[in-house]
Order: sequence, then C-alpha cells, then structure tokens
Amino acid sequence: MKQTKKEILKIKNLSAWYEQLQILYNINMHINKGEIVSIIGPNGAGKSTILKSIFGFIEKRTGSILFHNQEITSLKTHELVSKGIGYVPQGRIVFPGLTVLENLEMGAYTRTDKKEIKKDLQELQAFFPQLQKHLHTNAGLLSGGEQQIVSLARALMSKPKLLLMDEPTLGLSPQMKLMLFQKIKELRDKLQLTILIVEQNAKLALDMSDRAYVLEAGRNKLEGIGNKLLHDKRVQHLYLGGEF
Ligand SMILES: Nc1ncnc2c1ncn2[C@@H]1O[C@H](COP(=O)(O)OP(=O)(O)OP(=O)(O)O)[C@@H](O)[C@H]1O
Ligand SMILES: [Mg+2]
Repeated sequence: MKQTKKEILKIKNLSAWYEQLQILYNINMHINKGEIVSIIGPNGAGKSTILKSIFGFIEKRTGSILFHNQEITSLKTHELVSKGIGYVPQGRIVFPGLTVLENLEMGAYTRTDKKEIKKDLQELQAFFPQLQKHLHTNAGLLSGGEQQIVSLARALMSKPKLLLMDEPTLGLSPQMKLMLFQKIKELRDKLQLTILIVEQNAKLALDMSDRAYVLEAGRNKLEGIGNKLLHDKRVQHLYLGGEF
C-alpha cells in the first residue's frame, strides 16, 4: 500500500517471537500524525509485544516498521529515542531509589540542550502539579497514580514525537483513569504528539481514542474509528462480561 505523508508510523507484516514461541502474526497498523490510537485485546494477546517490538526490545522479529517513512526495524532503543520515539512501559516502572527529579532527568539522557531541559522540567511540573509536590521524594515512595505520572513525564523528557504507552491507567481509580486520559489528550494538543496506547479498559480506550486496533491471539482482529468500534457488535461480543 502506498504510504501517505500524514503517516508517522507504519507497521507491516510484523511477526515476533520469544525464543521459539511465536507471539505476533503479520500485524499491520498505521498511525497518522496527531492521532491517539489504541490497541485493545485480551490478556496475552500480544499488545505489549507490539510496543516492545517498535521500541527495539524484541530480538526475533520479521516484517518492517517505518517511522516518518524511514525503516527503523533494526535500530537500537537509544537511536529510536533520539529519533523521537518515547515509551512508557507497562507497570509504572520508575527508578524507586531515585528522586522524582532524578527520574525525570534520566528521561533526558539523550539530550544535550541543558537550558531547554530545565525549561521542560518546569513546564512538566506546571502541567502535573503532583510532580512539583514530590520533586525530591524517592519515586518508589509515591502512590501508584503518582508513579504513573512520573513514568509518563520521564518519557516526555526525551521530547518524543511519537509516544508509546502501555496500560497507563492500570490499577488507577475510575476518576484517575479519566483524568489521565484527559491529560494525555491535552498533551497531544500541547506538544503535537502522536500517541499509540495499549489499554485494558476497552470502553475507555475506544471512547478517548481517534482510532483503535483490536488484537486477538497475536493477530489483527478489527480496526476502526474509536467510538464506532465501541458500538460494534463484534467488539461488544469480544468483551462481553468484561469491560462492557
Ligand atoms: N519475556 C517473555 N518471554 C516469553 N514469553 C513472553 C514474554 N513476555 C510475554 N510473553 C508471552 O507473550 C504473550 C503476549 O504477551 P504480551 O505481554 O504482549 O500480552 P498483552 O496483550 O500485553 O497482555 P496483558 O494484557 O496481560 O498485558 C503472552 O502469552 C506472554 O505470556
Ligand atoms: Mg501487556
């Protein structure tokens, strides 16, 4: 298929393995500039493996991944960060023994523009007041929701253009989930970000995203406009008894 200019990321026939075990089977996806796109699907469907494959964490892969029309499939993680891809891993991963400020500074490790880094730190604190409050506290002592914000803010410190987020709302209260998604939308507008997000809560994801991909057993199952999928009988069937 011909690639259009608007596409920031394109995944073509991506298959991936852990050792001998195949997890992804010919996944195809694309993300246009400025979109929030969700990946939903049952536990073990391979959602995290897609993000890890993009971010260079999976060794055994076939297919190709294009970022701004450029092949990035074999690039190392630090090269991907330099190119403008950020990753917020599943499970609120922070450096627990480092302060919040040190965690954020770690996110800027590929940057050399000291003045800009300082400015970005201040902007992030204004955007997430929780950060300011706990700037000199060890990140491991923060609440789950606060750690999630640290993990997100740390990824933002690399100044990504494409942000990969793996279940950022996991374990948060319903209000916190909604708040976080609203913040994510604000960030998209403020920083002209494009966001690929994995989300367990299918209803929330479809509600809040421009488009979504439904994954099942490592394969593309459905795709479409977020709120259209929300009312799709097949999606409702897949998630019956779950989030619907
Ligand atoms: N490091 C690993 N080594 C071997 N198998 C793995 C590894 N990581 C994940 N898997 C397996 O790969 C499959 C897909 O895992 P993945 O983490 O991508 O699923 P997921 O859709 O993100 O699930 P969840 O919703 O539970 O986070 C699962 O069967 C999982 O057990
Ligand atoms: Mg996962």
